[in-house]
Amino acid sequence: MSPSSRHWLPSLAAVTTLAFLAAGVAVKQELPPVTAASEPITPSSDVDPTGPLMLVTKDLPLPDGYVPADLVHPNVPSASPGAAPLLNAATAAAAEAMFAAARADGVAITLVSGYRSFTTQAIIREGHTSALGAEAAEAVSARPGHSEHQTGWAMDIGDGSGTCSMTACFADQPAAAWAAANAHLFGFIIRYPPGAEHITGYVYEPWHLRYVGVGPATEIAARGITLEEYLGSVAG
Ligand code: DAL
Ligand code: ZN
Repeated sequence: MSPSSRHWLPSLAAVTTLAFLAAGVAVKQELPPVTAASEPITPSSDVDPTGPLMLVTKDLPLPDGYVPADLVHPNVPSASPGAAPLLNAATAAAAEAMFAAARADGVAITLVSGYRSFTTQAIIREGHTSALGAEAAEAVSARPGHSEHQTGWAMDIGDGSGTCSMTACFADQPAAAWAAANAHLFGFIIRYPPGAEHITGYVYEPWHLRYVGVGPATEIAARGITLEEYLGSVAG
């Protein structure tokens, strides 16, 4: 089996590294059984509007001028020279634990993108529009004010070599396979999973991880659902 086709199981290193998660990051170490009857979803009205279950979509923008209060540079390998991109404090702590666990499993993960301001997102979106046209850009890039990257709760990961960075073939890289199998142990979900464009509005992004907390991430992974479905916020 080639490394690129390898499917990672939840790793021992991932589980043991959970002990190093920062205070405030809840830990659950086992996947719950997958049952046909799902638990009641979290009512959107109960969700902290700036907390780990913050929902930002094409229909739900961030508050005007939103900037997270607790941005920090996580101590993880960066895909670019210099300090790693900013994340909010809880996401940074979870990322540090996750990247360390991957490294212990022999899988290199880099941080490609974290917090992006409204202005930075506007520049990125304009770049996509220029390169792809407006319709195609809409499927891969959020309008400014509508990106999870502005929340500090989202990050884009890369492979140690930069192979397939931010492109569809990243799904076949060890970093993506490891993340798909283990990210929930650290509170992350693959936010834009395959086959869910009709719900999320975006094509599959195996590199875009969103921190939601270990409990929600574990349930979302086990049930194979999106954050919108978990929160009962599917438009329609
Ligand atoms: N690529 C994701 C959807 C973003 O632009 O936030
Ligand atoms: Zn992203």
